[in-house]
Amino acid sequence: MRISVVGTGYLGATHAACMAELGHDVVGLDADPAKVALLSRGEVPFWEPGLDEVLRRALATGRLSFTSDPADIADCVIHFVCVGTPQRSDSPAADLAQVNAAVEALLPHLGPGRLLVGKSTVPVGTAAGIAQLVQGTGAHVAWNPEFLREGHAVEDTLRPDRLVFGVREAEDEAILRQVYAPLIESGVPVLVTDYATAELVKVSANAFLATKISFINAMAEVCEATGGDIVTLSAALGMDPRIGPQFLRAGLGFGGGCLPKDIRAFMARAGELGVDEALMFLRDIDDINLRRRQHAVDLAVTALDGDAAGRIVAVWGAAFKPESDDVRDSPALHVAQALHDSGARVVVHDPRAMANAQRLFPALAYAPSALAATEDADVLLLLTEWREYVDADPAEAAARMRHPVVIDARNALDPQSWRRAGWAYRALGRPAS
Ligand code: UDX
Repeated sequence: MRISVVGTGYLGATHAACMAELGHDVVGLDADPAKVALLSRGEVPFWEPGLDEVLRRALATGRLSFTSDPADIADCVIHFVCVGTPQRSDSPAADLAQVNAAVEALLPHLGPGRLLVGKSTVPVGTAAGIAQLVQGTGAHVAWNPEFLREGHAVEDTLRPDRLVFGVREAEDEAILRQVYAPLIESGVPVLVTDYATAELVKVSANAFLATKISFINAMAEVCEATGGDIVTLSAALGMDPRIGPQFLRAGLGFGGGCLPKDIRAFMARAGELGVDEALMFLRDIDDINLRRRQHAVDLAVTALDGDAAGRIVAVWGAAFKPESDDVRDSPALHVAQALHDSGARVVVHDPRAMANAQRLFPALAYAPSALAATEDADVLLLLTEWREYVDADPAEAAARMRHPVVIDARNALDPQSWRRAGWAYRALGRPAS
């Protein structure tokens, strides 16, 4: 099938490459010519494990191309909209400018037999609005949310837990079943639904995940007040199959380009719909999450005897999570910048996100290696749990520090081996010794 993918960011680039991998002819459209040039050369403009291989394989077959000219997608039958929906700068609601621009760009190429498929995360009601807009062309609209995680994008696209098709016509369901035929044949379940449910599956899934993380972080606050240990508590809770162990890792909380803005946009939309009370609890979820960042800053300042001015703080991690170079709403950089604002010299290392961090946080210092960041530092903060930090030799790092104090804000290090190597070990939600 001849497919276009509009928007080639984390979602769109992955979707385009994976659709070509499934055997379709795919054109990726993006307004940014630099991104188009990189992708056309087989270079992924961001860090996503495994995507470069799929991209190059797809380019080599001749089934995948990228363009910034909307005319190049004129003969595509299916158009996937994969653009970003960030938080508005003036409110917690979603900014739909890119979605609107994508629909605008597609309009001249829509007609009977054409299907516009939304994948972007949008406020419920958006699909119906777009359907009304394109009605005159004879084209149809479907909503097919994606659930991919950065760092696992290829796997999540080719082996998703489920496929959700929000459609109005049986023929559109049939087209989507054809697009995803190899996945469906391999056993991926399909749920066919109306637009509103399809849109809601995505935002409520993210709201639930955010809630699970903030729940365990709220328990961490209680542990801090009582001497309890959140890591053991979390392990015990996760053994109950009704609860499950995933997304119960207490620490610095959630960040990134999805969970924080999605729960805020969901609350804003609920307000517009007159059901704001139903989602009032998400305000607490957001607050608990942001409190963890402040708590990490407070622990660091305490480790610096109450005054960060002129002290050296080593920070391991800048990305919002490991296996990503994404620093959007990164808890790690939030903490690093707050300590810088308190007067500390903050030296950051990250295996993949240094360039993105440097662009957005130019006032912070950056070290070429994890060990170099610890040189003469008064405290070390582990803020993103990259494997390289978890596996680091605590003795080697201790030798470089002025004061070997570590704050494990992701509960990722082994307290015993770090203490044995001479470190004062502190963590979020765990007793000090
Ligand atoms: C998320 C959803 O998981 C995905 O389904 C959706 O399509 C997009 O949003 P992503 O933003 O890539 O994906 O990251 P995710 O792995 O969900 O992690 C989000 C944040 O939560 C990270 O900052 C991570 O460090 C944090 N997290 C995750 C925790 O603090 N504790 C956990 O137990 C799990």
